[in-house]
Amino acid sequence: TILTGLFGHPVGHSLSPLMHNRAFEACGLNYRYAAFDIDPSRVQEAVQAVRALGMRGVNVTIPYKVTVMDYLDEVDEEAKIIGAVNTIVNEGGKLVGYNTDGRGYVRSLTEETGIDLASQSAVLLGAGGAARGVAIALLKAGLPSLVIANRTVEKAEQLAAHMKQAVPQATVCALPLNKVAEALATSTLLIQTTSIGMHPKTEASPLPAETLHGGLTVSDLIYNPMETRLLRDAKAKGARVHCGVGMFIYQGALSFEYWTGRPAPVNVMREVVMDALR
Ligand code: ATR
Repeated sequence: TILTGLFGHPVGHSLSPLMHNRAFEACGLNYRYAAFDIDPSRVQEAVQAVRALGMRGVNVTIPYKVTVMDYLDEVDEEAKIIGAVNTIVNEGGKLVGYNTDGRGYVRSLTEETGIDLASQSAVLLGAGGAARGVAIALLKAGLPSLVIANRTVEKAEQLAAHMKQAVPQATVCALPLNKVAEALATSTLLIQTTSIGMHPKTEASPLPAETLHGGLTVSDLIYNPMETRLLRDAKAKGARVHCGVGMFIYQGALSFEYWTGRPAPVNVMREVVMDALR
């Protein structure tokens, strides 16, 4: 049996073990995936254990996506730019870190909505860790322009500067969250990465409904609930909507592909996740 798993703290709520084990089974692979709740003082030992136990790799979740980077032999270029690793691959004793969150998000957005990134003008809400991964992946996948709006505008400015450096051909600027209405009026894509609207405060929205319009695709990274207040308001305006559950599935699919070298059974993975969330 080839062992994979998840390092985080806590991990009890994670759907990853269910999703990956079902995927391995569907492909007839003798792999298993287990969740490990790692004490903050033991992160380095846990990473070393991947090598010692001959595990094929692990996913890394909150709060260790940044700290594990110090203990790896190599970190992929995109993960370096994002500044976080969510997937470790054990290549015969050499531990390599990747970040599949951003690319997973882009695959979900484009496959589920059918939009062409090259023809979009986008607004991104938030400037935290999730925003960073999504911004770099969108720009690298061909999104030509991005407005980053955040409550703390300095963080939006920092992220915008970082993105301009990483993807020089892109047009990126920053705004305070409360000044985003004008930019939204002329945009075609809105991506929501803050925690506003997440369970249990499901009635909260980062934007007044009046700022939304039917020419938008509105994508919310939140998947609990699957339909946030923002998405409900967007639907009522005739906008196309996209929720965060696909990002979770595709970040896992990309990890699966690193570990097994096989295409992930995305439909099987989606089915177990949707069943679990219902
Ligand atoms: P994550 O890794 O999920 O992105 P994070 O790095 O803590 O988490 O980032 C949280 C994001 O949600 C930030 O953009 C934060 O805005 P600030 O930078 O101004 O803190 C945003 N956020 C969280 N709660 C918010 C709220 N009540 N109003 C506006 N923005 C909020």
